Formats: sequence, C-alpha cells, structure tokens
Amino acid sequence: MNKSANVITHDVIVVGAGLAGTWAAMIASREGVTDVGVLSKLHPLRSHSGAAQGGIAGALNNVRPVPDTGPRGPLEQIPPGDDLIDSWELHMFDTIKGSDWLGDQDAIEIMVKDAIDIVYTYEHMGCVFSRTPDGRIAQRRFGGHSAPRANYAADWTGHVLLHTTHEQALKNGVKFYSEWVALDLIVEDNVCKGVIAMEMQTGQLVTMRAKAVMFGTGGYGRAWKITSNAIANTGDGVAIVYNAGVPLMDMEFVQFHPTGLYQHGILMSEACRGEGGYLRNKDGDRFMEKYAPDKMELAPRDLVSRSEQTEIDEGRGIGDDGQGIYLDMTHLGREKILERLPQVRDIALNFVGVDIIDDLCPIQPTAHYSMGGIPANANGQVIANAAGDPVVGLYAAGECACISVHGANRLGTNSLLDASVFGRRSGYAIAEFIKGGAALPEIEGDHLTRTQARITRLKSDPASGKGENWAKIARELKQTMTDDCGIFRSDEGLRRALQKVKELQGRFANAHVMDKSNRFNTDVLGAIETENLLTFSEVIVSSALARTESRGAHSRTDHTKRDDEDWLKHTMAHKTDDGTPELSYKGVNIDWEKYPPQERKY
Ligand code: FUM
Repeated sequence: MNKSANVITHDVIVVGAGLAGTWAAMIASREGVTDVGVLSKLHPLRSHSGAAQGGIAGALNNVRPVPDTGPRGPLEQIPPGDDLIDSWELHMFDTIKGSDWLGDQDAIEIMVKDAIDIVYTYEHMGCVFSRTPDGRIAQRRFGGHSAPRANYAADWTGHVLLHTTHEQALKNGVKFYSEWVALDLIVEDNVCKGVIAMEMQTGQLVTMRAKAVMFGTGGYGRAWKITSNAIANTGDGVAIVYNAGVPLMDMEFVQFHPTGLYQHGILMSEACRGEGGYLRNKDGDRFMEKYAPDKMELAPRDLVSRSEQTEIDEGRGIGDDGQGIYLDMTHLGREKILERLPQVRDIALNFVGVDIIDDLCPIQPTAHYSMGGIPANANGQVIANAAGDPVVGLYAAGECACISVHGANRLGTNSLLDASVFGRRSGYAIAEFIKGGAALPEIEGDHLTRTQARITRLKSDPASGKGENWAKIARELKQTMTDDCGIFRSDEGLRRALQKVKELQGRFANAHVMDKSNRFNTDVLGAIETENLLTFSEVIVSSALARTESRGAHSRTDHTKRDDEDWLKHTMAHKTDDGTPELSYKGVNIDWEKYPPQERKY
C-alpha cells in the first residue's frame, strides 16, 4: 500500500468482502500479488454471503433417496462403488432448465464442473460441514435440483464458508478496510483506474488507485418492501459501475424466495422444504399439488413464489393482511429441526414468536436475489458491450455480476457456488493480469472533487428551506417496486413504476440530510444508498417493460408465454447522457445439440 493525502494505492482493490470478493483477494495474494486491499461497507464477516443458509451445490454423490420411498422420502448414503445418481451433467441440465434457457451454457458448464472441487477445497480449508454417518459431507434436496446436492452446514452454510475464506485471506496478508464505502468508480477510455471511497469513521473521501479493481458488492433486494436482503444490500456496486458508463445486463430478472418470514422477509431457508416441509394455504391445503404436481414444494423458486402469490391474490392467504402462507414443519420432529434447522427455528421464535417444532410458521415471498448485474465473462472480466470486449482492469463476480449462470431464474444453492467459483477464477485472472506487467494507470479527471460535490450538496440547506427527505423517497420507491415490479408485472404497472421512479429521481435532486457531521454519518450514507436504489431501479423497470414475454422470474400478466423467437437474448442497458437507460441485446450461449430450449415443466 502507498498512502499520501487523500490517495491510497494498491495493486488490486476489491470492493466487497463477501464470498466472491474474499475469494478473489485470497487467490490473487496467494498467487503472488502481495498488495491487495479489500473495501467493505460493513465488518467483512457481516457480508451478506453469511446469510445464505441451506447449502452450496455440488454433485458429490454422497446420498440418494431411499429406493421405493419416492422423491420426497428419506435419504441414504451411497455405498462406495455403487452406481452414481448425480453428475455435473445432471447439475448442468437442472441449472439450464432452472434458468429458463437464458443462462449461458459455457459458463454454466464451468461452474458445475468446478462445484465438486470447490466444495472439497472448502473442506480442506477447514469448513465445518454437516456429515453423513460415515463422515462424508452431508447433502440435502433443494428446489429444481433432480438429486440431493446441496452440501450443507446445518442452516449456517454461508456463514461457515465466509468465515473459512476470510481466515485464509487474513493468512495470505490481504488488507481489509472495514466500514469503507465505495462511492464512484474511475473508468477513463475503457480503462479502470480505481474508486472513490469514503472512510465512515472520519467521513474522509479518498481516491483509491489500483492496477485492477474487482467488484463483489452483492445484490439489491432493498429496492422492495419485503426482502431477505440485509440493510446494506442497496446495489451500490451495480449503480456505481453503471454511472461510470459500463452496461448492466438482464436486470429485469429478480428472484423472489418463496419463504421469507411473514412481514419481515427474513430468509427461512429452502432447506425447510428440502428437509420435507410443506406449504399450506389458509384452508390447510398443500396447494403446490395444483401448480407442480411432481416437484411440489421443491419446484424452482420462480414457480413456487408465483403459486403462493396466486393463492394470496385469490384470497387464500393468511395473516391480518392476507399476504401470508403457512410453512408447515410440524411433522419433521424436534430432533431433525434442532440438528438441521436451528437458525431457522431461532429466527421464527425471535421475530414472530412461533416454535416451528409445534406450530405452523407464517411466511411470504420475499425479494431475494438479482440474476442480472454487471456483465462479466467466466474469468470475471467485466465486458463493455455485446461483443464481449473487456473493460481493462475491471472484474466482477458474485451476485453483483451477471456471468450469466442463472439466466432468468437461479436454483437455490447455486449462488454460494457462483460466488465461490467465479470469485476464485477472478482471483487467478487478476493475478495473471498483474504479474503480466499491468501498470498503475494515471488518472486524468478530478473524480474526487465531483464525488465531494454530491456530498456537499446533500449537506447544504436547500434554497427553499424545504428539502426532500431521502428516507421518504426510499419508502415510496420500495412501495412502487413491490406494487408494480414484483412477482407479476404488466405493461400498465411497469409504465406507472417508471413514471414514479423518474418522479422520485427528480425529487432526490432536492434531497438533503439533517446530520452535517463527518464521523459515521449514516444520514449521508442512507441518502447515497437511496440514490443508488433509484439509479438501478430505473434500469430494472425499463428492461422489464421492454421484455414482452414471461421467462423465469420475469412474469408478465399481459405476455404469459415464453417467446424464444423474439426474446431468447440478454438485455444490455447503457446509461445515456440524459441519464436514461438505452437497451440493446446480446445472444445467449447455447449448445444447440446437447441442451436446446425445451418447454419448462416440473
Ligand atoms: O434458502 C436458502 O437457504 C437460500 C439459499 C440460496 O439462495 O441459494
């Protein structure tokens, strides 16, 4: 590290300390790049990867359903030498089908092949997985996967993976900047040169220069009222990159997880259903019989969330507002719940006072995961256009990126996998770039002054004496995205949403903060996060309005069918000079011989 007034220099700067960023930093340093700095808005171990509960996918083939008990029966260990039931090929097909054929199949192949190695690598790094009786890594079922391949540590999987990886990064000498917020990305002539960041403790802005910058900044569920995402998940990375002239891809595809805790949105892991839990409406019916008679509660998330929403919309929801559904685990038994779902039980006890051992748990669909994001190739290199030309020195992986392995709908447990596999690959690619002789680029413009001016404006009292309250703007945005850009969408609703987002952007220009101080100014941070929410929400709504079909998580009530003829393509959104997104399209990488598009039925 090299430090002078308001300037810090590293070989590599990673923004975000979740799994993707930490893997990239750890590998780059292990490969001989000794000067790696990681910026994290939170303490690194509070990053949202730690909130993923149910497992990381990988076709290890340790367990299988007991013969003759059907797809939801108990699991048994596979004796050594017995026939395999799972394979990376099966994992690949499930992922492609789950993606509604929008996933890029070359990237999916890399991910599912690497899955097996990355899970064993975690094991060798000391990760405390749950175990089968003979000591192999335990596996459970998850929605849309045709074999039990969620490798798990009770319902703390993301937490233990994050701790294990963080330890290794520390061991390799990675420097962490805890509670530092990236505010702007510096890209000049298609070369990435660093970021402008704020140290929360002092409020000081710093230009962080680097030969390579990697974004692992996570998702943006906070644009909706009910979300499983942490307060910090405001899509800062996505907005910053877009503001710097880099496109965003497939932003219309936002996943709603079927089981967020009722009225809170907190994740109640899909492992609840993987371990045998049922969904019931207010009449006690297991309604999934109607929507996915074969997979039932273990259909993919887009389908289960739509089924729940249909029950709710038709008056069969539960709770004061009728927006809930019951998750029934009362038949699983105390022992299984305490062993495999202890966190889920604690969450329900603490937040809604329900003990899932004895009682039905109220849940509802919750904004959970962004399939779209910063377009990148399988080495994490961010691409500038549909031709795939890289932005020199810029990398992205994990939820903020769109590599695109999830297409229009992600399968559960493929996100910890995506973040780990492509975080690691980014680390190798960055090391190669630096060791190949990358120089520290000179910065031409005065980026820091421009960023400072935004904060100064927020802190100055509006001329009229009556500025807008950013928190009110954020609340109105969340309501709009929930009402008009949620599980079901329509032309009318999306137009209304677009108009509202623009109105809110206009009002934000007059937003100001009450707290004028520098130290830990969360008023300023909240305002900046709200501006980021407004920025990418416009891209989501515009992309969703343009896509006149239903595919995966993008479900249009006025265009109910998938339309491969017109829409088997990725959306790319560029920010234009007047601030509005310009949409263009990019082909999907498909192996037409092996995995041609099919009707998607469960
Ligand atoms: O339900 C869960 O445990 C979440 C996992 C995921 O989103 O992959």
